Amino acid sequence: DTRALQVAVVGTGYVGLGTAIMLAYLGHHVVGLDVDENKVAMLRRGQLPIYEPHLDQLMLDSGDRLRWTTSYAEAIPDADVIFICVGTPPLPSGQPNLSYVADAAQSIAGHLNGKLQVVVNKSTVPIGTGDWVARMLEEHAPDYHEGRYLVVSNPEFLREGTAMHDSLYPDRIVLGSDSPVGIAQLVRLYEPLLDQSFEAPGYVPRPAGYTRPELVTTSLSSAEMIKYAANAFLALKISFANEIAGLCEWVDADIAEVTRGIGHDQRIGPRFLEAGAGWGGSCFGKDTSALISIGREYGYDMPILAAAVEINRRQRQLVITKLQQHLHRLKGKRVAVLGMAFKPNTDDLRDSPAHDCIARLGELGVQVVAHDPIAMPRAREEWRHLRYHEAASAEAALHGADAAIIMTEWNEYRQLDWAGALRRMRNPLVIDTRRVITAALPVGTVEQIGKRAPGVLVHEASA
Ligand code: UDX
Repeated sequence: DTRALQVAVVGTGYVGLGTAIMLAYLGHHVVGLDVDENKVAMLRRGQLPIYEPHLDQLMLDSGDRLRWTTSYAEAIPDADVIFICVGTPPLPSGQPNLSYVADAAQSIAGHLNGKLQVVVNKSTVPIGTGDWVARMLEEHAPDYHEGRYLVVSNPEFLREGTAMHDSLYPDRIVLGSDSPVGIAQLVRLYEPLLDQSFEAPGYVPRPAGYTRPELVTTSLSSAEMIKYAANAFLALKISFANEIAGLCEWVDADIAEVTRGIGHDQRIGPRFLEAGAGWGGSCFGKDTSALISIGREYGYDMPILAAAVEINRRQRQLVITKLQQHLHRLKGKRVAVLGMAFKPNTDDLRDSPAHDCIARLGELGVQVVAHDPIAMPRAREEWRHLRYHEAASAEAALHGADAAIIMTEWNEYRQLDWAGALRRMRNPLVIDTRRVITAALPVGTVEQIGKRAPGVLVHEASA
């Protein structure tokens, strides 16, 4: 295929793996690079280091267009397009750690071939990093010629759990560069997706009414800002719903009805208005604090964002307050925590509200029995500092418990026989933070966020 490009993807985390596998599926020849030898060995055996629906099948369907390596010398010289998809984890200051981006840029620079190559930033990086990467390429490339190495920012908007769906059927593709040639090369790369008749394989169904993605071309800095602004706005939307949910409990309204009522207004939109135990995951917390700290560098306050972060902190505490209001002393009680991943269909535990919940319950002397359909093995590694028992099933976690908290809306929890489970609890009380339970159950057994429980008025005393 003459349209096929040679692509190198540096970093095999969520974004890198998704990008590499998706581009290979689209027909390009892709080398995925990671400095972690174990990861690369796993990938070469056809195993994925993360759980993400359809990723395994798409990898198989990409056949020999997809390779894995630890060697920059192998991946970079032949690549037309080089993606930087390394992590930018938060530093204690809230600012992202750019050392992996710097390492990647320097290593890439050392192997550039002196012909036209486009370096694409997909990692979420502070505004201005694209220029910084460009300078690093200039400094470290052995044979630098003005205008040969073009830097494009191509932010990623995929959600974990639906990563392949979001990558194959995006709403928009954002390409930011000060070089039209760089943008043209990326348009060529994404061409299959930009075709109205594009169909992904049957196991990633095309959304009803889907139309081809909007192509948004911008300057380098605008594209970098778009990524932060998009995540910050989504976090804000959820925090707004959580704030209104708290007031709903006082005035006897139901947040689910309220958001349904406002969401049909097209100016507002129905999505990302689900109240719960607060948002988590690898992006919202990191990106909101990064944006606030970028503002701080310029002496520019961002009070709306600061409030969104504060509401999220309060929301995580609310679950514990509700429990205390019902059970009074928590010490020695047994509480089932259902769901550990920050959201369903992923085993990602980063900044998961369930983590804070289990940690706080532990401090209060509660015996925690936790369950997650997918994330338990990962928690065994990453949550060693927490005290909890693992349950083999949701039913086993609930058996004999004084209360249960549903933290993640896994389908398996929706399908549970809740009436039966309540009978086997020592005390039938479920705090359902994700509106998982739809069955009619005895009054007073299920409490939800943003809806006054019959006979109990529960709310954290306002400061
Ligand atoms: C997010 C962005 O959606 C994505 O565009 C970006 O590329 C990365 O960050 P992700 O973190 O994978 O994706 O998950 P998302 O589905 O956005 O959920 C984030 C958190 O918000 C989860 O903890 C989720 O439970 C919570 N959430 C989401 C709510 O509490 N209410 C909602 O209505 C939606």
